[in-house]
Amino acid sequence: MSSFIFTTSQVGAEPIIKEEVVGQFPEARLAFSRPGLLTFKLPDENIQALQKMEVPLKSVFARTWGYSIGSVRGETVEEILPKLWELTGERRFDRIHVFGRDLHKIGDYKFEPRLTDEAYDLCRQLSEAYPFDSLKSKDQREAALEGETVLDVILVNPTPPTRVTDFVARRETSEEAQESKPQKARKGREKKAGPRFEWLIGWHRVHSFQSAFPGGMLDLEVPDYVVSRAWLKMEEALRWSHFPIFNARVCEIGSAPGGATQALLARGCEVMGVDPAEMHPNVLADPKFRHIRSRIAFVKRKEFRRVRWLTCDINVPPNYTLDVIESVVMHPEVSVRGMILTLKFPDWNMGFEVKDYIARIKSWGFNIVRARQLHYSHQEICVACLKKPFRK
Ligand SMILES: C[S@@+](CC[C@H](N)C(=O)[O-])C[C@H]1O[C@@H](n2cnc3c(N)ncnc32)[C@H](O)[C@@H]1O
Repeated sequence: MSSFIFTTSQVGAEPIIKEEVVGQFPEARLAFSRPGLLTFKLPDENIQALQKMEVPLKSVFARTWGYSIGSVRGETVEEILPKLWELTGERRFDRIHVFGRDLHKIGDYKFEPRLTDEAYDLCRQLSEAYPFDSLKSKDQREAALEGETVLDVILVNPTPPTRVTDFVARRETSEEAQESKPQKARKGREKKAGPRFEWLIGWHRVHSFQSAFPGGMLDLEVPDYVVSRAWLKMEEALRWSHFPIFNARVCEIGSAPGGATQALLARGCEVMGVDPAEMHPNVLADPKFRHIRSRIAFVKRKEFRRVRWLTCDINVPPNYTLDVIESVVMHPEVSVRGMILTLKFPDWNMGFEVKDYIARIKSWGFNIVRARQLHYSHQEICVACLKKPFRK
């Protein structure tokens, strides 16, 4: 049995995850770690309780987590495979997930966490070479099913995506032109190569929406008609929350240019978008969409009478977003059943306040409140809030 757990996350979220894990398991000790990838040693009774799911890991910022069983290194896949099978032993898995840790903060060097071709190819190779015939699928594009056990292969030093290498190459070329000789010599010494492959090996049982996907990352294909990347966030939020937002009346605060609205319209919803900025003409042309071109504070509360679902994605700090939402949902004429809120953190330290944000939302009568840093979220979290049972 393993004594370690691993978490993967955005680069920048690690101190908050440490606090989350130690808050839940005071004896947890940080072990092997890299930016975006942490492991913790836990007492056996904590591991047993997690495995029986008496207490799932409570983390808003871990994109995924599981049990860590060690690491393997080598120059070629052929060299590394026997070490991998030795580590996994007789244990049978239903799936293999391969994914890289985040190499950079989102946006730095144009980095975005994604499942790369390298991860897909390695998954296929490992699945073909897997010594037992227990695998349900060899393609990690197919979501795993509740209760299945998954072997996690985390690439500690994944090949950076082309958009990152292109960006770095362009920058280095312009920097090198200006560098002095001693600077160039120092940089040469700093570039020390480690082994070509270094993998952290773990496993998990599928127990939640995100744990069905490699590294908790959905690989959504964006339809051509989509007008902004907010579509990705809304799609992920709707799938993760399992909220029954179909053919519903929704108000989207901060709706421009309209990607998130498009995800709602595609589910048959009637959407009222509130935003002082311009909506994309294609969204405006949809008969089920109405734009109130204003800041939320200036919208008459009677406009919200028919609204049952509220979504909000405005670029202001969390307490301001919550002030805005409170002023709507606590109005006596408003009867909102559920909300999907984006809370943006201009400063990562705001991530330590998540419990307070959740307590505030609960005080408005939303008794089910879940928060998560979505795969498609940037420096922000998604909060799904519900009144259950809902009485109009
Ligand atoms: C991240 S964008 C929203 C993206 C949008 N949901 C989409 O799907 O394309 C944030 C938006 O919030 C709007 N905003 C900021 N403060 C606002 C307020 N007080 N009331 C309404 N909208 C606001 C901005 O004009 C901006 O268009």
